[in-house]
Amino acid sequence: MKALVLAGGKGTRLRPLTHTSAKQLVPVANKPVLYYGLEAIREAGITDVGIVVGDTAQEVREAVGDGSAFGLDVTYIPQEAPLGLAHCVLIAREFLGDEPFVMYLGDNFLVGGIADLVNAFRGGGHDAQIMLTRVAEPQFYGVAELGRNGEIVGLEEKPAHPRSDLAIVGVYIFSPVIHEAVRAITPSARGELEITDAVKWLIDHGYRVHSHPVDGYWKDTGRLQDMLECNRIVLERVEPDIRGGVDGLSEIIGRVVVERGAVVENSILRGPIVVGADTKIISSYVGPFTSIGSRCVVANAEIDYSIVLDGSSVHGVSRISHSLIGRNVEVSRAAGVPNTHELMVGDHSRIQVGA
Ligand code: G1P
Repeated sequence: MKALVLAGGKGTRLRPLTHTSAKQLVPVANKPVLYYGLEAIREAGITDVGIVVGDTAQEVREAVGDGSAFGLDVTYIPQEAPLGLAHCVLIAREFLGDEPFVMYLGDNFLVGGIADLVNAFRGGGHDAQIMLTRVAEPQFYGVAELGRNGEIVGLEEKPAHPRSDLAIVGVYIFSPVIHEAVRAITPSARGELEITDAVKWLIDHGYRVHSHPVDGYWKDTGRLQDMLECNRIVLERVEPDIRGGVDGLSEIIGRVVVERGAVVENSILRGPIVVGADTKIISSYVGPFTSIGSRCVVANAEIDYSIVLDGSSVHGVSRISHSLIGRNVEVSRAAGVPNTHELMVGDHSRIQVGA
């Protein structure tokens, strides 16, 4: 069995970060989302992986290389435009050959891996397998309707009026019949070849499509609140590990990781949190569910429930919460100018300031 990992797309909901960076490389607990997927694939015993890449191809290549760091053999498959998930299968035809494969959306985050899913497919004699989970806002996903015996009776991509709250998770397993389906379907209203339509085509043509419930935690990390949620879930399981220097005036509480070269002075770190390599935390409070990247500075500040990417600094500001701060960003207090907010912010940014 092979795996096809999709790491193209525009990531519009995570702008401005995705103006300059692939959405699949936004870190969760200081590790890109995509890496979790690649590790799950390897754990399921799959090593032959095709990665579909778009505008951010170079960044993805730099992050994953030839795959050997993950125990994988990676082939890159360029997609000239984001024309849909089924289009990715179409252009990966040669790589996929006549084997079954796992299709894994690179921005999906699944706790518990995919080994059970792969085993269920291997023993099941099905033509395709999808995963379903209940969500609060099904209109943002592919939605399945199940019959009395659990069989799939309907599939719709982002329906305005969902017939159920069962979302299609971005991990699929297909036998080679999917190639016929992706050739047969036509673009949706958003101009994309939808994988949901291809799976529906299989059902309509009498193929056996099995649905598997997701037991563990799942998120599509396309939106800020989902990224923060994933970060929380991963941090809750992190093993405490202090490699950097923490002075005697600082207090470490709960699950805290301080990576190599980091310095913590006169601060309170209340886990679960991770502090990246060579970062400085000075006279500050870093609260639960926060990931601070490498080479950051947090000084005279308070921050919790947030993700801060590499090379950024937060000075004299309290309290930052529910925030995603990009690379090399400076957040500081407007000195000597009371009650003003001085901003220089990139396109498509979102800022919520206290009163
Ligand atoms: C895609 C699929 C959708 C699925 C979702 C899971 O949506 O089209 O059916 O539920 O992934 O993450 P997209 O993220 O491309 O909007």
